[in-house]
Amino acid sequence: MDLINDKSLAGALTSKTEAIKMALGKISTIENEVQQNSLEFLFKGFSKLEREQRFAVLKEAGLLTAEDVAFLNRGGLKDNSLGEKLIENAIGYFQLPLGVATNFHVDGKDYLIPMAVEETSIIAAASKTAKWIRESGSLTTRVLGKDIIGQIQLARVRSFDEFAQKVLARKNELIEQANIEVAFGLVKRGGGVADITVRRIERGDGDSMAVIHVYMDAVDAMGANIINQVCEFLKQPIQEITGEKVTMCILSNLVDSKLTEATVVLENVDPELAEKIEEASLFAQQDPYRAATNNKGVLNGIDPVVIATGNDWRAVEAGIHAYAARDGQYRSITKWQRDGAKLVGVFKAPLIVGTVGGVTVLHPTASMCLRMLNVQNASELSRVISAVGLVQNLGALKALTTVGIIEGHMKLHIKNLTMAAGASEKEIPYVQKKLEEILTLKKRISHSHAIEVLKELRSSFHQN
Ligand code: MEV
Repeated sequence: MDLINDKSLAGALTSKTEAIKMALGKISTIENEVQQNSLEFLFKGFSKLEREQRFAVLKEAGLLTAEDVAFLNRGGLKDNSLGEKLIENAIGYFQLPLGVATNFHVDGKDYLIPMAVEETSIIAAASKTAKWIRESGSLTTRVLGKDIIGQIQLARVRSFDEFAQKVLARKNELIEQANIEVAFGLVKRGGGVADITVRRIERGDGDSMAVIHVYMDAVDAMGANIINQVCEFLKQPIQEITGEKVTMCILSNLVDSKLTEATVVLENVDPELAEKIEEASLFAQQDPYRAATNNKGVLNGIDPVVIATGNDWRAVEAGIHAYAARDGQYRSITKWQRDGAKLVGVFKAPLIVGTVGGVTVLHPTASMCLRMLNVQNASELSRVISAVGLVQNLGALKALTTVGIIEGHMKLHIKNLTMAAGASEKEIPYVQKKLEEILTLKKRISHSHAIEVLKELRSSFHQN
């Protein structure tokens, strides 16, 4: 057979070659994009994919391995031995849903954000708002300062000035001893104890309380254990130098010496929307009742990433709330202002997390999430988390000042209501549709609506 003259075969070969070329083209685009830290190909249409398709693209992008997918399909961590090691009286695991938020472009790099959270609409709102910023603005972050804080309390000292003078005179020696004896691992990695200061605290009974602050760069660790050990170690030399008695030693979660800042700049924002967001922000700056809810919205973004990466979310929460109240009034941790046609938002607070040590490496889901997030160090992790918090806040403020929280939130919540009412797989689509109609009509929706709709559906089925 003359292959060249056989037109249909030649045509088939050409289209096959084209298909191969296209496939190779797509792979090389993906490779290029991955190399350039771009996840654009992955973000496009991700929310429309089925679970298995999501796994396929995540594997293709190199964010998950086949083992990760098998692990997730098995339902994650099952082996009780880790729980036994971590806590007392362990009886099992508490499972939270794990999802990924898309469209994040922070400091010129794309991130797929792992979020462990049970609240409907958080991941959808984060992804949607991140897309808005990706298309019409920028998201930049930085860490200000390096050191975490440890506190050594001396409940009552005879003379504060004398005490302070004695400690400060031997400060360098104390720092050196702590670095040699306790923080040597950090020193090797470029960190360690950096400074010691002394504070006087009013007791209210005429006597003085003295508190020593120990400043330490924990590099990529969260640093809680090391700073506590450093403070305990310093207890004896401080008592010897001063002749005073140490009461207790512990880190402080109010780390105002290491703050993480995220800034969103949105271009060409509808002036009416920008004004409303600015007003909403002022409300949260000035009124603690609103500030609490605003900050809860910021933490809707922060906590799920802190949890997914195996970090201590209680410490992060405590630090953020304490910083929010630093001037004596609890205020918003974010601030939004118009600047011409721009809308500028800033988050600034302590956000102390680690990428080495503890649960970040022990928990297989946490280490998988850290790998997926592709951060190089604790500072990058903290910066990305601050960005997620600020983006989440913008999403909430936009919804609150436009359609209201019910529309976005409840539409997604309808799914939960439908399931809570006990609808079967077959009944779910009908109940959901009916509930959506009720929501549009009445602007509210509840569990009893779902029960009613389901009852109606079942009785009409029996009548037919
Ligand atoms: C709900 O989880 C969070 C919001 O209340 C945040 C806010 O009010 O800014 C919507």
